[in-house]
Amino acid sequence: MLQTAMRFSHTLLKEVILTGDTVVDATMGNGHDTAFLAQLVGLNGLVYAFDVQEQALQNTDKRLVETGLREQVRLFHQGHETIATAIPEETSLRAAIFNLGYLPKSDKQIITKPDTTEQALDALLARLESKGRIVLVVYYGHTGGEAELAMVQDYCQKLPQEIYSVLTYQFINQKNNPPILFCIERK
Ligand SMILES: C[S@@+](CC[C@H](N)C(=O)[O-])C[C@H]1O[C@@H](n2cnc3c(N)ncnc32)[C@H](O)[C@@H]1O
Repeated sequence: MLQTAMRFSHTLLKEVILTGDTVVDATMGNGHDTAFLAQLVGLNGLVYAFDVQEQALQNTDKRLVETGLREQVRLFHQGHETIATAIPEETSLRAAIFNLGYLPKSDKQIITKPDTTEQALDALLARLESKGRIVLVVYYGHTGGEAELAMVQDYCQKLPQEIYSVLTYQFINQKNNPPILFCIERK
């Protein structure tokens, strides 16, 4: 059976992340991806996770403590647009994940935005290792979602093919705007 965009995002990450790696969850939310990354990098690795909502940090912290994964994660109560200052320039990253949109069952006004997402992408690409991947799962059915999708599409299409390979993955016959996945891999 074909994988959902969310499941495929984990497949793409699992293929490249090794224990001891440093990775980023740019939109922590309830911490599902943060916990997944923490498991992959193990105790010798490091996950940087960002969110602007206090509730996201609380939910993620609880999830990580309950699953014994808290030690290898740094939680930042700040936007991913601060990655350039939060993560040292000399740090090389194996992977990063974004889930763009709003947190389900939470305040639908708090959404990711094109300009801050772009700033985060710039900072991540500057730190991405060879063979490293940035995966974006873009939910775009809400107000403002189309503009963010357009930015991501444009950003990805303009990346030079000598340095990056970029793919998109989407179901094209489903109702209700299923998310679209983008994966940027540094050659
Ligand atoms: C679709 S949800 C992420 C779901 C998450 N992956 C999970 O496992 O639950 C998007 C999240 O992005 C957060 N967000 C919005 N603007 C942000 C920003 N500038 N930086 C980081 N996170 C942001 C929202 O607060 C929300 O929790």
